[in-house]
Amino acid sequence: MSQQIDHVFDENRRFVPSEEFAANAIAGPELYDEAAADREAFWAKQSRELIDWHKPFTNVLDWSNPPFAKWFDDGELNVAYNCLDRHVEAGRGDRVAFHFEGEPGDTRTITYAQLTEEVKRVANVLTDLGVGRGDRVAIYLPMIPEAVASLLAVARLGAAHSVVFGGFSADSLRSRIDDAGAKVVITADGGYRKGKATSLKPAVDQALADRGDGEQATVQNVLVVKRTGQDVDWNDERDIWWHDAVATASAEHEAEAFPSENPLFILYTSGTTGKPKGILHTSGGYLTQAAFTHRSVFDLRPESDVFWCTADIGWVTGHSYSVYGPLANGATQVLYEGTPEYPEPGRWWDIIEKYGVTIFYTAPTAVRSFMKQGREIPQKRDLSSIRLLGSVGEPINPEAWMWFREVIGAGDVPIVDTWWQTETGAIMISPLPGVTETKPGSAQVAMPGIAIDVVDEKGEPVGDGAGGLLVVTEPWPSMLRGIWGDPDRFVDTYWKMFADKGYYFAGDGARKDEDGDIWLLGRVDDVMNVSGHRLSTTEIESALVAHEATAEAAVVGANDETTGQAVVAFVILKESFLKQHGPEGLAQDLRTWVGAQIGPIARPRDVFIVNELPKTRSGKIMRRLLRDVAEGREVGDTQTLADTMVMSAITKQVK
Ligand code: WTA
Repeated sequence: MSQQIDHVFDENRRFVPSEEFAANAIAGPELYDEAAADREAFWAKQSRELIDWHKPFTNVLDWSNPPFAKWFDDGELNVAYNCLDRHVEAGRGDRVAFHFEGEPGDTRTITYAQLTEEVKRVANVLTDLGVGRGDRVAIYLPMIPEAVASLLAVARLGAAHSVVFGGFSADSLRSRIDDAGAKVVITADGGYRKGKATSLKPAVDQALADRGDGEQATVQNVLVVKRTGQDVDWNDERDIWWHDAVATASAEHEAEAFPSENPLFILYTSGTTGKPKGILHTSGGYLTQAAFTHRSVFDLRPESDVFWCTADIGWVTGHSYSVYGPLANGATQVLYEGTPEYPEPGRWWDIIEKYGVTIFYTAPTAVRSFMKQGREIPQKRDLSSIRLLGSVGEPINPEAWMWFREVIGAGDVPIVDTWWQTETGAIMISPLPGVTETKPGSAQVAMPGIAIDVVDEKGEPVGDGAGGLLVVTEPWPSMLRGIWGDPDRFVDTYWKMFADKGYYFAGDGARKDEDGDIWLLGRVDDVMNVSGHRLSTTEIESALVAHEATAEAAVVGANDETTGQAVVAFVILKESFLKQHGPEGLAQDLRTWVGAQIGPIARPRDVFIVNELPKTRSGKIMRRLLRDVAEGREVGDTQTLADTMVMSAITKQVK
């Protein structure tokens, strides 16, 4: 079957960087030339400039056994030293590393000197618990400063962390602990979310309990942060209070150097079926690309910027752009524990105003939920400190991009739409803010030093103006080094499709426009085949979001007797529109609208107006479940949903 994807939706708006921004930008156009001249030399130079190597590397890339890459192989470094001590040693210890804001409103200001000291103490505690190089530590915490300190303390010891998102169940936690063979779990009594104290420790107790199958958990100790003060069950032999152990631990700790390819972390992605995949990242290459992309894509000025990435630390975005990239660069950040709606919808904008956030990095799903609530809410706050906006996690529809720019960015700040994955470790495709003429909805160009193409099923480039499969054609420093404990699955999942070419296939569809700029089209599994036309979900969704009534849309292909598959759309309306007009007749209007915007081929057979869409805990729409509804089936496995009630509500609305 052809893997070409038809292009149906045009977007012609263009935004050149302001002269002022371009003149002062951290990253200039010469980066592309340097990288094109010699990719490996380019990365070696970035690494030497951005990272302190205890033992300098001489080898850059070892690709003698693809797809198992080694970067900067003979070099040695300590990742935590690079994120902490070296800033203090250089006299920047008083700089704020984090403005922490808890959901109830408690705040803490943490300098680089303070964070360094805390991490040294935690490293000493972990050493006493027997954690050392090569061990694994599971981290199951809310978004509090102790989470950042935990990651760094584990990294400091040359052990690997496996962060499990706090919203996951005891079973998910146990399977991840087992798979990684974790020795210690770091958790908290609970955290604050939506105005309530939620609990974490009971899930750890349950995860570690004897299941009567003769398999003991590998965990020997549980280190517990007191966050909410709620009652917890206690196992004296196993459990240790963070505040007891860390307070009495020594604040002296020398960072030891570890080889560049020493594992840094495992992060589980759910995958579509079966056992979660433990994506493995290592040290030197990962840190190099995280730091380089953070600095150049966000135009970071560490002395004056306040950077806020809203992602939870349980996701890769939180790893690379709340911890490793920004801290390696000595940035000042905001860390917020809770949800955007508590105590009321404007909380994020209050935080931006309060801390003078200059660079704001979030997900399209958040932007669309703000569009739904209406622009009056952010417009009541002073957001004038913002000078750059970033987006990650899903394609951002052109209309959401425009809203983001106009309402949050005062109509004149650059937006960087950054494409990457847990597997890629760091940003791969993005505009450079002082260089690229941006197009709403396009992630645009491969980063300097990154080789991307859009190909057909044989691996041949589709060329400008056509759609197909997004591939990475050359190894990159922060690439995943494997799936934990399963090298065959690593090869099968990512490298088999284009084995003869040696391309990494990412699972995403994309299109190159006439200028060669890249537009992400969603997962290729979600591509619809309507009367022989292969249509992406993204373009039809973007057309729906371009209607004044719509805040968010998801489309799926449902079996259809005449067309093979038919387009079925699920749409969330803007609250302001609902107040003025109500939903009557809107489904028909939206069908006609899409027909006019794109053409009859893409006109949805059905449009359902709904209040919510099914999303994963990291905010991605789960179209598989909507397909079940559209085809009248029993809805499939909803375990990975953030809110399992959403599907019954949608099923009811559809009926
Ligand atoms: C999607 C998140 C379009 C894509 C960093 C990818 C995007 C998956 C974008 C990885 C973007 C991420 N435009 N799609 N800017 N960024 N995606 O592993 O489908 O949570 O494969 O990593 O998110 O999600 P993950």
